[in-house]
Amino acid sequence: MKILAIETSCDEAAASVVANGEEILSNIVATQVEFHKKYGGIVPEIASRKHIEVINPIIAEALEKANIGFKDLDAVAVTYGPGLVGSLIVGLCAAKAIAYSLSIPLIGINHLEAHIYANFLNSKSQVPNFPFICLLVSGGHTMLILVKDHGEYEVIGRTRDDAAGEAFDKVARFLKLGYPGGPIIDKLAKEGNPDAIKFTRPMLARRSSKSGGGLEQGYDFSFSGIKTAVINYVTRDAGCTTKDIVASFQQAVVDVLVTKAIRAAKEYKCKTIALGGGVAANSRLREELKERGQKQGQEVVIPPHSLCTDNAAMVGCAAYYKLRNNQTSNFDLQAVASLKL
Ligand code: KG4
Ligand code: ZN
Repeated sequence: MKILAIETSCDEAAASVVANGEEILSNIVATQVEFHKKYGGIVPEIASRKHIEVINPIIAEALEKANIGFKDLDAVAVTYGPGLVGSLIVGLCAAKAIAYSLSIPLIGINHLEAHIYANFLNSKSQVPNFPFICLLVSGGHTMLILVKDHGEYEVIGRTRDDAAGEAFDKVARFLKLGYPGGPIIDKLAKEGNPDAIKFTRPMLARRSSKSGGGLEQGYDFSFSGIKTAVINYVTRDAGCTTKDIVASFQQAVVDVLVTKAIRAAKEYKCKTIALGGGVAANSRLREELKERGQKQGQEVVIPPHSLCTDNAAMVGCAAYYKLRNNQTSNFDLQAVASLKL
């Protein structure tokens, strides 16, 4: 079962061929970082125009690398939301045209679901068993999801303000470190002291009358306060180096994410925690979730770096499980900017 998958929800245009939902035959990602860098963030109009330029070449490259032709495809999968509508439409049009002309199924995929499915592209021994907790951390979303079965999700917590990746990007922008901020902070933080400054850990634990004065264990997140704490610290010029500031900021974010993910796994009686989304590429988060999770008897599943940030292989993997259940899409499938899981 060979699926051509297309992903253009944001500033990356990606195409991949995935066989049987597990074997990546090709995985092409055309990044646009160079074009958005000077604006310090993604410019939607530029993103969609660049997608138009590269979409056909990357599809051709994905087929060539997979050593197959259009006629060997069994289905076409495409991200239809959430994301930038102008960007999504480019991938959707390409996917519809290919599926229609070949008379093969079209499978629309939710981008968030695709990030979860990056975990099913791991080697067989490392695929998460149901039910599991997925910590999904990207530039636009931060969620704790109880994954009960294929396609069965319960979102148990989400950010109330900034997403984790957004906080990384905004802090990097404030410190004039460049764009995108996540990977830059990750690298710089390796040379800093994560305990230099004790930044706030919002919503980690609080006393609640509901629990008779005990600790209330909510699963929502808030990251804008940590970002403001960094800005206030720098404005006061309290003396630490930039390396120490970013290491301490990263530690605060990671601490909140890991503590809540482990708590959720315990409360929902899941033996496994999986990770997904661009921030899952963060080395401190990967290390700490593994270390602290395993100490608590949890199995921790983490996709390789290249499958954490936006890519089309994860879309092809999610589509395989949809196709197995005959969950295909109609040709009137529309791009949706904000789409829930
Ligand atoms: O999943 P993704 O590629 O796109 C969205 O769906 O949003 O995530 C992009 C986000 C950006 O905010 C970026 O700064 C962050 O992931 N990111 C990282 C790292 N690599 C990417 N954040 C922290 N550490 C990293 N190594
Ligand atoms: Zn993403």
